[in-house]
Amino acid sequence: GGLTCIRHYCKKTARKLRVSEAVSGAGLGANVKVQGWVRSVRPQKANLFLHVNDGSSLQSLQIVASSELNNPSLTFGSAVEVTGTLKKSPHHKQPVELEAEQIRVVGECNPVDFPFKIKERHSLEYLRQFPHLRCRTNAFSSLLRIRSEATTAIHSYFKDNGFLQIHTPIITSNDCEGAGELFQVEPSGPDHDEDENFFSVPAFLTVSGQLHLEVMSGAFSKVYTFGPTFRAENSQSRRHLAEFYMVEAEVSFTQSLEDLTKVMEDMFRSATEHVLAHCVEDVDLFHKHVTPGHREIVDAMLKRKFPVITYSEAIDILKRSSEKFSFPTDWGCDLQTEHEKYLVKHCGNIPVFVTDYPFNLKPFYARDNQDHPEHTAAAVDLLVPGVGELCGGSLREERLDLLRVRLEEYLDLRRFGSVPHGGFGLGFERYLQCVLGVDNIKDVIPFPRSSHSCLL
Ligand code: 4AD
Repeated sequence: GGLTCIRHYCKKTARKLRVSEAVSGAGLGANVKVQGWVRSVRPQKANLFLHVNDGSSLQSLQIVASSELNNPSLTFGSAVEVTGTLKKSPHHKQPVELEAEQIRVVGECNPVDFPFKIKERHSLEYLRQFPHLRCRTNAFSSLLRIRSEATTAIHSYFKDNGFLQIHTPIITSNDCEGAGELFQVEPSGPDHDEDENFFSVPAFLTVSGQLHLEVMSGAFSKVYTFGPTFRAENSQSRRHLAEFYMVEAEVSFTQSLEDLTKVMEDMFRSATEHVLAHCVEDVDLFHKHVTPGHREIVDAMLKRKFPVITYSEAIDILKRSSEKFSFPTDWGCDLQTEHEKYLVKHCGNIPVFVTDYPFNLKPFYARDNQDHPEHTAAAVDLLVPGVGELCGGSLREERLDLLRVRLEEYLDLRRFGSVPHGGFGLGFERYLQCVLGVDNIKDVIPFPRSSHSCLL
């Protein structure tokens, strides 16, 4: 009984530390316990050196133990719990090391079957085949920490600027964009009659929370939502997913598109500056090793105010260029990725707003620019380096008589105290692609879903 009691006491005194805290020098001299996964094992004479990582930091913690503590299940990839004393390290590479008194293997890992090798750099494309394991690599764990921090930064931007967060529904009965890329939702299983419609109306996974935000913008002047959206797009492009996260905002009492472009630009800047300041090592890993040279592009993006050109000016620029495009560049044609990328380059490889698109290219809810000689809508896209379209937005048509001819369903939103308003949506994965320079959208989301691909 006494011995158990002493053991119990010892366990309690070891302070549990995360690797990020340990490597930053917190708890020097203290008896600590660290839990994580083994990144390397090096037996050396009478000693054993381990690196352990728990996902809290790019850096792993060096563990020094007497070789007596070694055992066959202590391999690359295994999960361990190490108790010992945190000491100043004699080596330059890491300021701190943990002198182990006890190493417990919590979960074994057969390194022969493990698809990643010690100290080897694998391409993002290779890692994509292992959605259950890629979080154990430096590159992907950095990505996930950046993704989490960027999410926080975006919420902070909206909170600091007086926006109310609305949880818009995932299941809806409307097709907001009207583009017909919907996933239909129906229950299945023995308790459900296939002929009976669960919701009594056709229901779908949301393609955009815009209409629900517009409802709320009848009571709150600034609202936003940030959640998953779904589109049954068949495209195998490097910037489309079937499930992606979208940041959407709606602002009431807007005077012009400038009210929206200001929010888009401010949000982009504030989120990006936050990520660069709070994820220094993780961002460096990308900018120095995964996508070398991209840091200069990001710095350039933040230096200048984003230029604004109209769609008609964009068409002029494309027509005057000597570039051979695959798609036509006539007034009235939609801008394709190749055009968007050219326009970005033309404007100095920084984000650029394109406004006032032909009326027929934009969804029914975009506001008619009736005072323009050409038939255009007060819509705006933000195009960014490497990606093309990052945001799409518009002033919304609030004039009942104009809408009446467009869509019956939309009318009720406008009958009760309608005000001029507008909003936009930003594709969060494309944002991460833009900041990190990542070519394929599947490499910036934990579990990518696209046509013919839904692993795990
Ligand atoms: O331009 P979109 O279709 O705009 C809307 O859905 C509006 N209802 C938003 C609003 O005004 N509230 O989509 C907005 C952004 C795009 O610019 C793009 O960045 C991203 O969402 N996006 C996708 N990202 C990944 N995969 C897809 N399949 C995407 N489709 C759009």
